Order: sequence, then structure tokens, then C-alpha cells
Amino acid sequence: MRTQVCIIGGGPSGLLLSQLLHRAGIASVVLERRSRDYVLGRIRAGVLEYGSVGMLEQAGVAARAHAEGLPHSGTYLAVQNEGFRIDFDALIGKKVMVYGQTEVTRDLYDAREKADGIVIHEVEGTWPHDLDTDAPYVTYTLDGTEYRVDCDFVAGCDGFHGPSRQAIPKDVLTEYERVYPFGWLGVLSETPPVSHELIYANHPRGFALASMRNPHLSRYYIQAPVDDPLDKWTDAAFWDELRRRLPHDAAEALVTGPTIEKSIAPLRSYVADPMRWGRLFLVGDAAHIVPPTGAKGLNLAISDVHYLFKALKLHYGQGDETGLDGYSQTALARVWNAIRFSWWFTTTMHRFPEQTPFDQAIQDAELRYLQASPRAQAALAENYVGLPY
Ligand code: FAD
Ligand code: DHB
Repeated sequence: MRTQVCIIGGGPSGLLLSQLLHRAGIASVVLERRSRDYVLGRIRAGVLEYGSVGMLEQAGVAARAHAEGLPHSGTYLAVQNEGFRIDFDALIGKKVMVYGQTEVTRDLYDAREKADGIVIHEVEGTWPHDLDTDAPYVTYTLDGTEYRVDCDFVAGCDGFHGPSRQAIPKDVLTEYERVYPFGWLGVLSETPPVSHELIYANHPRGFALASMRNPHLSRYYIQAPVDDPLDKWTDAAFWDELRRRLPHDAAEALVTGPTIEKSIAPLRSYVADPMRWGRLFLVGDAAHIVPPTGAKGLNLAISDVHYLFKALKLHYGQGDETGLDGYSQTALARVWNAIRFSWWFTTTMHRFPEQTPFDQAIQDAELRYLQASPRAQAALAENYVGLPY
């Protein structure tokens, strides 16, 4: 088979890129290791920057987000069970939208299907070849038969564990990494959200986050040891711990019920530089990971798609290579802003096992400053709603 852009990975970044390319008359094939149901079963991000919503509009897949997504003009921070509000709208005139990654992905799958886009599921052994030539190709196995896709470019949209980044020679790649000494235990529950806006809580027992998917579906997280066995966290144990960490009024209002998903995710900051090697372009989690505190992972994947799509349009439309040549540098500049913000917000909101009295006093001072200073709040707001592309 031959196509113009072979996309490895059918998560949000791969699907969005293929849908945008399709609307610009550029052919692509998406290769995905899992089934569609498996991809749609992963509960992940919940908060979209409006820049991300704009990308969904450009791709023609924003109708349901606009109808069902929840615009949020602020968020609560809490310190030792007392909350205060960061008013994005009043501070900087912007909002975010709560609309789950699962729904974004579903909308994209539906659009690809309607346009007869090629998305091949349950491929095995995907590997890109000859990336440093002008005739790259990707091989994969499906039902025991090996296939080959010849293409002009390979987009590595295959997440942190995918093969694309591994195909870049070690001596070309610089990797930056910080692993945090705790994880997030996340729960999804068919209960009304405890607050109409998100609550990020700093507490001596550890961080907690109250989020939502819609008015009937809540999403909660608590900081927990990453190697805690899940069966230690019965529903009752989870709700008790969450209640202890939330602001008092929220803890009293919390409606609990059976959980329909429960998992522990590790927290990591990671950047691969460069994001381009020859005809391979890394996109999203394949190139970088942020701890989830700033709600940046999916939004960064979407901004990478913005830069790569623009560059490919320039290449195919006008024979202009400047976008492709500048992709890595342009994408990485925005990535590092989000890496910094997510690191700062994570450091400010969590209890670290090795935290000294000095570290704790600095964290307390940081939070007091945030609570008191509209300028400090504006800096948080500007990063949280998303820096411009
Ligand atoms: P992925 O979603 O990882 O997709 C990659 C795809 O490639 C997968 O479908 C995978 O199956 C496929 N693949 C892998 N290997 C191969 C192979 N060999 N061949 C073919 N296909 C392959 N981000 C936010 O912006 N806001 C949030 O609020 C937020 N909250 C989060 C909460 C949690 C608990 C977690 C875990 C993440 C959260 N994130 C959040 C991060 C966000 O989910 C990711 O950044 C996002 O999924 C990245 O999209 P992607 O398409 O780059 O990668
Ligand atoms: C959600 C996840 C996040 O990491 C975050 O910062 C905000 C919300 C969520 O899953 O709803």
C-alpha cells in the first residue's frame, strides 16, 4: 500500500492529524495496535484548552464538544481544607472546556469512518524503516501476515511506549526526565460532581483533585504510592481519603457511590529532543510526558498536531519546507512551557516523601502568595488555559 503520511498510533493525536490531512486533500493511513473499543475504554484527560477546541473545529469534529462540553471560567485551589478560587475569565478573559478524551476520540473515530478513512486496528510489530531517506516505509503484521506501507512521511503518534521514538538513533536523541515519587489513584463514579468547578487540593495527607465528565459522572484523583496494590483501595477507603483532603464544605457535600473505574498512574516529566529525525515526526506522548496536574498532556498532543499539520500543508501545497524544518524547534518551545508549568504545579500541590521543613515552608509561602496575589493567579491562569500557538 502507498500513502502520503503513514500515522503510527490511533489515539487522539493520530486520529486528529489524519482527519485534518483528509480535509486538506492529503492521504494518510493510521495503524493502531489496539481495538477501537480498547482505545475508547481508556479513561484519561478531561480538560481542553480553547486552542484545542479550535483544532477540533478545524477538523470538523467540534459539534458534540460544543453541545455537551462544560465551559469552566475558573477553578478552586485548596490548602488544608480551605478553598479559594482562581477566576480565569476575570483575570485573563479566557476559559477551558471540560470534555473527556474518550469523547474527543469517539468523535474523531466517527468522522474518520464517515470519510472512509483508513484506520487499521490490532496491528502488531509496527516498525518504521529508511527514515533518513526520501522513501520511508512502515511494516506491520496483521493476522499473521506482514504488510508494508510506503509513504512520504511517518508521523509517530504512538504514545510513550510506541516504536517511533525508539527508531531514532540513540546518539541523535537527548532525553530529559524527572520521575515523581508518587502516583495518582483515579476513580470514575456515576455520581454528581462535588463542585461545579474543579478543585485542586494541597493537604498534609497528599494531593487530591475533584473533576468531572458531565453532571452525572465524577472523576476524582488522590496522590498515592505508585506501587500500592489496588485492592487496598476499596471504594470506602478511597472516599474516606478523598473526603479528608477536600475543602470542608466539599467534603460535606460529597456524594459517593460505586466506582466504575479505578487505577493508579505514575507521574513523570519527559522530553525527547529533537522531535524530528529525517522523515519521522514525533507527536504527543511519543515525544513528551507531563505529570497530569496541569491538565496539559492531551492539549500538548493537539498543539503538536497543529504545527505538523501546518508544516505538511505548506510542503504539499507550496513545496515550502520551512514548516517541516522548523517543526521540532517550534513544537519544543511550547512543550517546554507546559513542562515547566506542570512541574511547578505538581511541586506546589503535592507532598513529597523527602520534603524537608525548608521545602515545606517554601511550598506554604508559594500557596499564600498565590492566594493573595492576583498577578500570581494570572500567571497560573494564563498557563492553565493554554499559551497561544
Ligand atoms: P496516546 O493517547 O497514548 O495514543 C497513542 C496510541 O498509539 C495508542 O492508541 C496506542 O495503542 C498506539 N500504539 C502504541 N504502540 C503502537 C504500535 N506499536 N503500533 C501501533 N499503534 C501503537 N491530558 C490533558 O491534556 N488533560 C488532562 O486532564 C489529562 N489527564 C490525564 C489523566 C490521566 C490519568 C492520564 C493517564 C493522562 C492524562 N492526560 C491529560 C494525558 C493525555 O491522556 C495524553 O497526553 C494523551 O493521550 C496523548 O495522546 P497521544 O495520541 O499522543 O497518545
Ligand atoms: C482531569 C485530569 C487532570 O490531570 C487534571 O489536571 C484535571 C482534570 C480529569 O481527568 O478530569
